Amino acid sequence: MPATDAATARRVSPPDPWGAAAARYRWQEPLERRSLRAMLAVLAPRSSETVLDLGSGVGHVPRLLARDAAAPTLVVERSHRMLAAGDFAGAVPLRADVTRLPLDDGSVDVVTAAWVLHVLPPADREQAVAEVARVLRPGGRLGAVVPAVPRTGAQVLARRLARAGARAGGLAAFAVPHDLPALLTDHGLQVRHHRRTGRGYLADVVVCTRAASAPGRPG
Ligand SMILES: C[S@@+](CC[C@H](N)C(=O)[O-])C[C@H]1O[C@@H](n2cnc3c(N)ncnc32)[C@H](O)[C@@H]1O
Repeated sequence: MPATDAATARRVSPPDPWGAAAARYRWQEPLERRSLRAMLAVLAPRSSETVLDLGSGVGHVPRLLARDAAAPTLVVERSHRMLAAGDFAGAVPLRADVTRLPLDDGSVDVVTAAWVLHVLPPADREQAVAEVARVLRPGGRLGAVVPAVPRTGAQVLARRLARAGARAGGLAAFAVPHDLPALLTDHGLQVRHHRRTGRGYLADVVVCTRAASAPGRPG
């Protein structure tokens, strides 16, 4: 492909590193289920609330939400192949980047970010958290699930296998985002709940509330 055509293709089709995993991603669901349910149990969205699911993959969170809460849900996902392979249980899919959410300030009641913040480079993670604080209404809630630090030998081995699998699939190796509670607090998101779940992927489940007045804008 000539250089100019390649440049045009890059602009029209941004890189889709997760696309290759899309067809088989539903196999992850049993490994994630415990952590997703723990997050949703604390968030407890009501049917009158609008929920935004970030980096939705093939829709594990929207499907659980539709079963348990029936709240109107928006999905933001960058990978067109994840969107094409997904089942979002009636949620509205938006192809967009979590660092630039196509939503108005204060327009969302609940945000879920399950197994996504840790795959972002640190600068993008910070920008994504800033965007969450912007789109959440005062008093709105964020639920995040990220990998927890492994403690036992078996957990260390399981984590090594998961990282090797990610690398073999062409994905950047992920890291536990140790700075997450501080990052959330810096953006006016007060941590209300922080617990570890085992069984399946070892996870930290963090739930926060957006302060009445988030840094950088009136509440
Ligand atoms: C590990 S998967 C998790 C999927 C889903 N949340 C789940 O729990 O099954 C991460 C997802 O985030 C998406 N993603 C990664 N970076 C993104 C970005 N900057 N904006 C939007 N989506 C992104 C990927 O395409 C992928 O579908």
